[in-house]
Amino acid sequence: MRMIVTGASGKLGRLVVAALLGRVPASELILVSRSPDSLEDFARRGATVRYGDFERPDSLSAAFAGGQRALVISTIGVQDTPAAHRAAFEEAVRSGVQHIVHTSVPNPVEDNPFPPARVHLHSEQDLRATGIAWTILRNALYAELRSRIATKYIRDGRWTTNTGSGSHAFVARTDCAAAAAAALTGDGSEGRVYDITGPELVDAEQYVALLEEFGGHPIVRIEVNDAEYERYRAGFSADPNNAAYFELFAGTGEAIRAGYLNQVGTGVQHLTSRLPLSLREVFGRGSSSIRRDAARSRHAHLCTRCVGRARRPGVGRELKLEAVYRLRRRPDEGTTYWMIAYRRAG
Ligand SMILES: NC(=O)c1ccc[n+]([C@@H]2O[C@H](COP(=O)([O-])OP(=O)(O)OC[C@H]3O[C@@H](n4cnc5c(N)ncnc54)[C@H](OP(=O)(O)O)[C@@H]3O)[C@@H](O)[C@H]2O)c1
Repeated sequence: MRMIVTGASGKLGRLVVAALLGRVPASELILVSRSPDSLEDFARRGATVRYGDFERPDSLSAAFAGGQRALVISTIGVQDTPAAHRAAFEEAVRSGVQHIVHTSVPNPVEDNPFPPARVHLHSEQDLRATGIAWTILRNALYAELRSRIATKYIRDGRWTTNTGSGSHAFVARTDCAAAAAAALTGDGSEGRVYDITGPELVDAEQYVALLEEFGGHPIVRIEVNDAEYERYRAGFSADPNNAAYFELFAGTGEAIRAGYLNQVGTGVQHLTSRLPLSLREVFGRGSSSIRRDAARSRHAHLCTRCVGRARRPGVGRELKLEAVYRLRRRPDEGTTYWMIAYRRAG
């Protein structure tokens, strides 16, 4: 049986492919991506790699041809997310796919302030409407994002939050990937919605305790309201020193505080027959990279206006380069991120 994985070049996508390769021969995999060249390593192992972009639905029929099951990984940064997911579902059905597994978000209901909740409410409805077998994996917030940004809080000695006394069961991407691979290859998940979460809820006090344990010094928790948090986040995003970090949206903190994201699911155990990693274990696994990132972020801090030297490829002449940070905004999500470019200095 041939299985399609869309978004195969993303962080989750690559982990899913790695998990699938432990379950099925590479020749059964059809990996679809907007950047198929980046999947050369999997192609060498025997997987079929094809170009496919949900925002270019005309690309999907060739991309999906021959697949019987499909994992449709939710997108990020597209103009109209429900339309993009719908295009993928519809083309998968037209191509003869009989079962679609889709990654969603926790508690996608109309009044959930978590920013992607409403988008995924529509996508889940569209998936059910396809008329073929479906499985929904409601992935909790990634533990890796919380452990990565911990570097910054540890370095700054403070953490600003609007989550109040709310809590969330952060999940490791590797567990999301293992669950997705199991749902795609196994039987019995059809028509089921799984909460893919970590094993336990983590609240603000427990998170600070982790920061202090891994940082080795006290961390001040600054609890703010949503408007203050939004101002903090705007400043955070505008600071080039934070280019490598992802800070939660105010709506995410609001949703955690109001109890919209406090599910502890058994999806990982059910699908993979093993316990998911805790946030503490993800911190532990990342402790060397937490240290490395802390060192890098110190470097980035020093180098905000650094002038470095580099060789222009093919010319060999040494150029003096200045880092230039440009603010970009994604209109669909209001996401702000930094592009780093280089220009000749002087
Ligand atoms: N649970 C969380 O905390 C959390 C956080 C952030 C995002 N997410 C969601 O989970 C997904 C996977 O997370 P990740 O960490 O792997 O994110 P990522 O590394 O940023 O990957 C983005 C994913 O979106 C796909 N994509 C973007 N535009 C697309 C398009 N036009 N057509 C088809 N696919 C498109 C990419 O596929 P290609 O580049 O291969 O085409 C890739 O799989 C994200 O896309 C987002 O929906 C979850």
